[in-house]
Amino acid sequence: MSWGERQLAMLREMGVPPFWPVARQAEPAPVPVPVPESAEPASEPLPEPLPEPATPPARPVARPPDRPTERPTERPTERAPAIELGPRPAGVDALDWPELEQAVAGCQACGLCQGRRQAVFGVGHKKARWMIVGEAPGEQEDREGEPFVGRAGQLLDRMLAALDLSRGEAPEGHQVYIANVLKCRPPANRNPQPQEVAQCEPFLLRQVALVQPDLILAMGRFAVQSLLKTSEPIGKLRGRVHELAGVPVVVTYHPAYLLRNPADKALAWDDLCLARELQSRLQSRGGSPR
Ligand code: URA
Repeated sequence: MSWGERQLAMLREMGVPPFWPVARQAEPAPVPVPVPESAEPASEPLPEPLPEPATPPARPVARPPDRPTERPTERPTERAPAIELGPRPAGVDALDWPELEQAVAGCQACGLCQGRRQAVFGVGHKKARWMIVGEAPGEQEDREGEPFVGRAGQLLDRMLAALDLSRGEAPEGHQVYIANVLKCRPPANRNPQPQEVAQCEPFLLRQVALVQPDLILAMGRFAVQSLLKTSEPIGKLRGRVHELAGVPVVVTYHPAYLLRNPADKALAWDDLCLARELQSRLQSRGGSPR
């Protein structure tokens, strides 16, 4: 049985269906939300009123009020110029860490390679139980070669510390691995383009397969939408557990969004608590082999 199958079997054994509803029991049918074409995100639609549950939910979590769409960084409003694409990286799913890192460093699958100082691979423990997925390197990350080292990264570190987790040296079970959807910085911190996400995807999926985390915390619209292949806004996806190749995925707001919208830190804290609860349940059942 593969690791993914084992994880799924464990979740099922725990009575956790792939889309385990935690926030409420009756999830209304998803309303398709088109991904905005423009670089400027559209407003997040108003959440629908909660249906009255037949029985009280096991773990009631307040529905978020109307939230503006997450905007991790200031974005230019004009359309991004067309990018040149090379071939999508092939054979990545057979690479081990050193070859994978080398492949990322030398990747020229999209035009972002032309503007990068360096590709930003990932950081943390390579067998961490938690994997954090963000959007793309910014200026500082591009300079330092490490994800989440700017202001958003400092907030992320504080969020992790509140859970007794760290990207650095930490006892077993307290380390995280951090990676981004895109390994190269988009110019002027513009939004990742769908083709760039598609070209870079094999690298992130291979990182997930190598780390074999107990869970993934997807931070921000681009991480969430690219990992879960959905265009639903975060407000509609948070509060329950999703799944990627047998790995539970918890979604939350991007730290850069939280810096601009500090009132939503409380919602992000709920998401972190959900992740922690899930991970401790998984671990009490033996966790995934390290
Ligand atoms: N935002 C991200 O999503 N990733 C980084 O590495 C830095 C900022």
